[in-house]
Amino acid sequence: MKFKYLMLGLACVALSCTKTSEIDRKVDDLLSRMTLEEKIGQMNQLDYGSVNDGLIAAGKVGSVLNCVDAQKVNAMQKVAVEQSRLGIPLLVARDVIHGFHTIFPIPLGQAATFDPALVEQGARIAAVEASSYGVRWTFSPMLDIARDARWGRIAEGSGEDPYLTCLMGQAMVRGYQGDDLSKPNTMAACAKHFVGYGASEGGRDYNTANIPERVLRNVYLPPFEAAAKSGACTFMTSFNDVNGVPSTGNRWLLDDVLRGEWGWDGMIVTDWNSAGELIAHGFASNLEHAAQLSLDAGVDMDMMAYAYISNLEKLIEKGEVKQAQIDKAVRRILKLKFELGLFDNPYVDESFAGSLDYCPEHLEAARKCAVESAVLLKNEGALPIGEGKTLLVCGPLADAPADQLGTWCFDGNPEYTLTPLQALRKYYKVLYEPMLAYSRDNNVSAFPKLRTAASKADAIVLFLGEEAILSGEAHCLADLHLQGAQSELVDYAAACGKPLVLVVMAGRPLTIEEEIGLSDATLYCFHPGTMGGQAIAELISGREVPSGKLPVCFARSAGQYPLYYNRPNTGRPNTGHELLLDQIPLNAGQTSTGCQSYYLDAGYGPLYTFGYGLSYTTFDYANVKLSKTELKPSDVLKVDFDLINTGSYDADEVPMLFVQDVTGSIVRPVKELKRFNRVHLKAGQSQHIRFELPVKELAFYGINDKFALESGEFRLWVAPDAASGEAFNFKVIK
Ligand code: BGC
Repeated sequence: MKFKYLMLGLACVALSCTKTSEIDRKVDDLLSRMTLEEKIGQMNQLDYGSVNDGLIAAGKVGSVLNCVDAQKVNAMQKVAVEQSRLGIPLLVARDVIHGFHTIFPIPLGQAATFDPALVEQGARIAAVEASSYGVRWTFSPMLDIARDARWGRIAEGSGEDPYLTCLMGQAMVRGYQGDDLSKPNTMAACAKHFVGYGASEGGRDYNTANIPERVLRNVYLPPFEAAAKSGACTFMTSFNDVNGVPSTGNRWLLDDVLRGEWGWDGMIVTDWNSAGELIAHGFASNLEHAAQLSLDAGVDMDMMAYAYISNLEKLIEKGEVKQAQIDKAVRRILKLKFELGLFDNPYVDESFAGSLDYCPEHLEAARKCAVESAVLLKNEGALPIGEGKTLLVCGPLADAPADQLGTWCFDGNPEYTLTPLQALRKYYKVLYEPMLAYSRDNNVSAFPKLRTAASKADAIVLFLGEEAILSGEAHCLADLHLQGAQSELVDYAAACGKPLVLVVMAGRPLTIEEEIGLSDATLYCFHPGTMGGQAIAELISGREVPSGKLPVCFARSAGQYPLYYNRPNTGRPNTGHELLLDQIPLNAGQTSTGCQSYYLDAGYGPLYTFGYGLSYTTFDYANVKLSKTELKPSDVLKVDFDLINTGSYDADEVPMLFVQDVTGSIVRPVKELKRFNRVHLKAGQSQHIRFELPVKELAFYGINDKFALESGEFRLWVAPDAASGEAFNFKVIK
């Protein structure tokens, strides 16, 4: 039996090697017939609005982004295949970030599911829908670690944790690319933005990032390495500079690390005009110089800067760049086109285009993802609310079909959105008083009506948050309070004397400590997508039980950022000593506040830590046992425990394994997530769970900048979040 599988495995390897070498042969053959001009044309990516038949027929464009009409895709392809000299098909790209037509929660919300299999399914669905229109390349996953919610693009990634981001990124790559890239329903993935973009200083978009190499390697690079290792076909360079070098011109990053150390040989594209922006950075003196720097760094395709198309020939003539550099880049581009099967099947089946959009299976996956992504921050018995009761529904996000879809949602049609208002009407008698028309609305004239309306209701549900336009690229905020008069609305609602439930839909963590304090329950939904309303209504009624967990810390005040649970320890770890502004006596002595690390006005820690999220039930973690307490580098640590659903609802829980390396050659994080698992337990049920952690996964880049395992003492926690659980000790001995 085993032998049979072995032979089958060998046959598969042999088949894929044959396929690869066959593709290599085809690429070589094609390359040998191409003129320099045609080669450079392949390295040029243009927006659909900037492209025309003449350019395509002349072979001056290799990829087009932002065409999502199957007929138009086919029309372009026809010109490329029939009128260009060598008939090389185009590669059509689009930002399919969290769904194509069926919109899933924003990536930060998807991360809150801690459910990579579900995220993979979402990416698969996105690929099925988008590829039916001819889109075969998506600029996703976004793998930027973000520790600052002021940065609008925190919405697009998986949050602050490298391990979670690795797993979510790999899941998306698998989902988009499927098991055989040459099938017409796949898209090539693009790991972006390489690298350090999430560390933009002050949370301001496009800003400089200063990241010591060790931190880069321990925190920012791992998700990209994981994506490279799991076969992501393409990478995109980031807009920012890291330590003074813009990524698009960073040869160390692209050539030494990505291609050299990691042995990845896929195709690298710039971000939109980021080759041209090397000039604004003051890194290149003109576009010709920018083209040279980008090519030298290892960039294969230029998105919308016209740097390659207008300069590479000149640079070759001058001897500034070599033909071999161009051949390498074109080889990678052609290889991807062959792998995607574009030479065999350049056209998309127009009669099939969109036929699976919003189909029941896709909507159900989006609903499930929205359910799992909602995080219950507070519940003092207000939730769930029995069906049939009367709800007063208010707030600017209660019926905002476009806003609940979130940022980077070019193709989702708001007409298909099920809003909370629509969905709640299925289960409740609903009185609807929006009170504010949109999240930034300051018009409070309707507020006095609230009390009378509330008197007729059993509970008030306020839908607050951010419009979609307030997060995402170039939408940073210095102040993370609720916009407009939303906080005042909470004050008014709280004064009505009815149970008050807040549902917040936003692209980032907002600073809403006071509002939560006034509520009886708060459910936080990162913009939840097409089926968000249905998911929320089911969570409110108890048909579903909240199980989302925070993929980022929630701050009390924006001034606390950057804020993250896996911070390096300080020499004066905060022991809970926080004498706040109004507690400091007059004329207090200089050292009376305790000389610990905290803000006088916001304390030390976050409002809610990484991993936090309540349920309608309760869980106990018991009988934690380590397989050994002294381990060798080759060992696998097994951590066993029992998870018990001690409440009265069937529900999911996400136990997490955190580890601390107590003493290292460099200061180590206070905790790091190493494993997690989503488990479903019936009320009263208990389950035995085991996490297995190979000791070698405790290695890191230490004092010598080498990736190594350091022996010594470690602590671990099995816990529902980064602030709970009992510590257990173990040692690594060499
Ligand atoms: C963004 C990328 C995106 C690209 C193409 C840029 O502005 O930074 O994330 O993929 O545009 O639309």
